Amino acid sequence: MSAAPARAAVPVGRSVTVRVPATSANLGPGFDTLGLALSLYDELTVTALEGTGATVEVHGVGEGEVPTDASNLVVRSIAYTFAWAGVDLPGLHLVARNAIPHGRGLGSSGAAVASGIMAAKGLLAGLVELDADRLLALATDLEGHPDNVAPALFGGLTIAWTTPEGPQHKKLIAHRGVSPLVLVPEHTMSTALARSLQPTSVPHEDAIFNVSRSALLVAALVQSPELLLAATEDKLHQNYRAAAMPETSELVSLLRENGYAAVVSGAGPSILVLGSDPSQRLPAAELVARHASTPWEPLLLAVDFKGATVMPDPVRSTTSS
Ligand code: HSE
Repeated sequence: MSAAPARAAVPVGRSVTVRVPATSANLGPGFDTLGLALSLYDELTVTALEGTGATVEVHGVGEGEVPTDASNLVVRSIAYTFAWAGVDLPGLHLVARNAIPHGRGLGSSGAAVASGIMAAKGLLAGLVELDADRLLALATDLEGHPDNVAPALFGGLTIAWTTPEGPQHKKLIAHRGVSPLVLVPEHTMSTALARSLQPTSVPHEDAIFNVSRSALLVAALVQSPELLLAATEDKLHQNYRAAAMPETSELVSLLRENGYAAVVSGAGPSILVLGSDPSQRLPAAELVARHASTPWEPLLLAVDFKGATVMPDPVRSTTSS
């Protein structure tokens, strides 16, 4: 009798490095739907080892704060992907070099999920293939909603929607004039708390208001940036959450009164200003610096067009040359 086929396994020593962008979700009217990838990145190297269990080194943001055991979100995302693939999880060593601020509405948890899934994809190469729909489905399972993980995985401006078959996305290339400024406060905001402030139903006229603005926003972001101020109005989430982040709310109002297309970034408390050209950003940042009662760090970023990328493994490329 012939022996049972060996179960597929990741080769010990296989290593993969991925880079994942920060993201800003909602963009005003596009609650749980629109997202934009930004040029600020977390980087992760994962190496497969003999045995089981995971060790995690964190450098930069989150160092000394995030869990370094199996409860780490990146480790859980890798394990979730291997479980879906039906491949045994090897021992893992993770090195995370993080730049995306945590708890600020810039998609740090979506980036952690996307980096874990992309690292798993790299480790599973040749054993199991994961297409774009599968990546988004796994990431949305872990994150709960697709609007951060879609731009983190695919880059650019993304429209995400859910269907009975799973989440879907469409990636668009933002107009070259679109110039993001992110203002990051020192305090954090819990996404769970922000979501608990949402009502279960909204007035019909508010729904219509947001349908019109989110349709307009897609046009403004890809074709007509001069419409960004009108296109970033919202009645579905920012007002309901304002009391939980009063300074954010005041500064968004101040910026908008001065003609800047400012919105709460994701669930907050950071602010995203969508400039229609790069010269709008410095005066917007100065306006905030003059009026804010706490420090807000201005980040002049670009739209990231690539999303999560798998980087060449430096060890293997050196030894093979
Ligand atoms: N759409 C989400 C929210 C983004 O605003 O709750 C934050 O994860």
